[in-house]
Amino acid sequence: MAEQIPDDRPVRWGILGAGAIARTVSRDIMLTDGNAVAAVGARDGARAAAFAVEFPDCRSFGSYAELVADPDIDVVYVATTHPGHHDAALLAIQAGKPVLVEKPVCLNAAGAREVLDAAQQAELFAMEAMWMRTNPLIRKAEQLIDEGAIGEVRGLRAEFALGLTFDADDRLFDLNNGGGALLDLGVYPVTFGYLFLGRPDQMVASGTLSPTGSDDTTAMQWTHANGAFAQLWCSASAKAPNSGVIFGSQGWIATEGAAHRPSGLVVQTADTRYRLDDPIAGQGSGYGPEIAEVARCLRAGLTESPLIPHADTIAIMELLDDARRQVGVKYPGE
Ligand SMILES: NC(=O)c1ccc[n+]([C@@H]2O[C@H](COP(=O)([O-])OP(=O)(O)OC[C@H]3O[C@@H](n4cnc5c(N)ncnc54)[C@H](OP(=O)(O)O)[C@@H]3O)[C@@H](O)[C@H]2O)c1
Repeated sequence: MAEQIPDDRPVRWGILGAGAIARTVSRDIMLTDGNAVAAVGARDGARAAAFAVEFPDCRSFGSYAELVADPDIDVVYVATTHPGHHDAALLAIQAGKPVLVEKPVCLNAAGAREVLDAAQQAELFAMEAMWMRTNPLIRKAEQLIDEGAIGEVRGLRAEFALGLTFDADDRLFDLNNGGGALLDLGVYPVTFGYLFLGRPDQMVASGTLSPTGSDDTTAMQWTHANGAFAQLWCSASAKAPNSGVIFGSQGWIATEGAAHRPSGLVVQTADTRYRLDDPIAGQGSGYGPEIAEVARCLRAGLTESPLIPHADTIAIMELLDDARRQVGVKYPGE
């Protein structure tokens, strides 16, 4: 069990892995009230030290083990590439530290269960960094749907596609580094589908592979027993607006811009159409609500966030496992 964090000091974050998203999220940690980047650990000490100079009083370590052993951090943010999430999260949990683990939480559902079970057994907070679910416009869409603004949800569509040029060394195409569009990008549309429709009764997935054998493009069709449907797709090579639309019996809600970080929401009810602005526009890179939710849960002594429950994280990994099986991608060791 983690110690209670006194209200009069910030939540002290330890950053595990000194890569691209670690830097972006760390900048947002510094912008979010009551949070501070306290330490960083990387496989290489010089790399960690170079990362730390940007953040005042940030300690740096040349190993993940030293970082998680630091008594003066309250939570570890696991920001390695996906194959490292499992062991790094367990390392932190075994050291008695709560964790925020980048998406996808692990390579597969079995790994996710191990990590989340270990956290529960140790009575430590754990959460997948699925920031879309903490985004205020996505939460507003959930609220509007609960209030019946578009009638009964009948279906949705969402995509995430980056338009990358194939590069065998890029982690997105490297099977040894968890490469593939499904885990990197598809986790967002699948989470969007799960959030507004729940688990499908049937999922048909088909797709194409890149020259390294990683999944390049996958389309998923969900069917629910009540007739509701989802059309979800992701692609490394195609480029798309990455939006999401939820179709109701009386109207629809569409994200303006990316579904995981909308710049607005367009709501069509039975008799009117209106637009909602992004309340966090201009506030860093948009990770503030996720950081604030972790801090809120830690201060409240929770072991999971109601916004990103463990059961949902595992169910979504199971759907990604299934889609990957259908398109024919396995990771080394699976
Ligand atoms: N939430 C979001 O919006 C978002 C956005 C982008 C990525 N992500 C997720 O964040 C994770 C990291 O992505 P990233 O874009 O930050 O990746 P990145 O810049 O390539 O590197 C992340 C870190 O992974 C560590 N690492 C461990 N084993 C590695 C290996 N074999 N090869 C390369 N790096 C290795 C490195 O840590 P050291 O510094 O210790 O060497 C590196 O700094 C991924 O799981 C990704 O899905 C999330």
